Amino acid sequence: MLDKDIEKTLISQEELRDIIASLGQTITRDYHDKLPILLGLLKGCVPFMSDLLKELDFHLEIAFMNVSSYHGGITSSGDVKIDMDLDTPVKDRHVLITEDIVDSGRTIKAVVELLEYRGAKSVEVVTLMDKPSGRIVDLKPKYVGKTIPKAFVVGYGLDFEEKYRNLPYVGLLKPDVYTNKE
Ligand code: PRP
Repeated sequence: MLDKDIEKTLISQEELRDIIASLGQTITRDYHDKLPILLGLLKGCVPFMSDLLKELDFHLEIAFMNVSSYHGGITSSGDVKIDMDLDTPVKDRHVLITEDIVDSGRTIKAVVELLEYRGAKSVEVVTLMDKPSGRIVDLKPKYVGKTIPKAFVVGYGLDFEEKYRNLPYVGLLKPDVYTNKE
């Protein structure tokens, strides 16, 4: 049913599996002795984080935050509102922020700065998708699944008006879905 609204597949289920398996190997190599906190930023991180976790073969903890950044206008990267904070102290811990997409970079940069301020031992980012064309602040995620072009993508956690997060792959929405709304 959701397929009919999708113009084109950008990352297929098969490619997602390959990307996540490869990220899992790299992160396992880098973090196996660090007992990191894998920190998911809600809500978009859910499918990616869930699949990535299963590829990480070492001890870790998971935590979640829900933040909204004030996009638009002249704002600093610190302008992020914490709607739900994580329940684990990060002081002296290695934190790996897990995201579905880095676009302007504002959200992640603000979270990175907050975690560093709170005394995390290290803060790095793993993102399924990186959209460098949208970047406004200086931020380079350490682990990137796939670099994508400037396009509005949905699925596998990413939404359009809160819908399509449950699409099992990443795709481009047909323009009539967002132009011919009732
Ligand atoms: C999306 C995405 C990132 C952020 C990326 O989240 O999950 O967190 O935007 O954009 P940026 O690099 O320009 O800051 P959103 O705020 O839409 O919330 P959601 O995860 O609940 O969809």
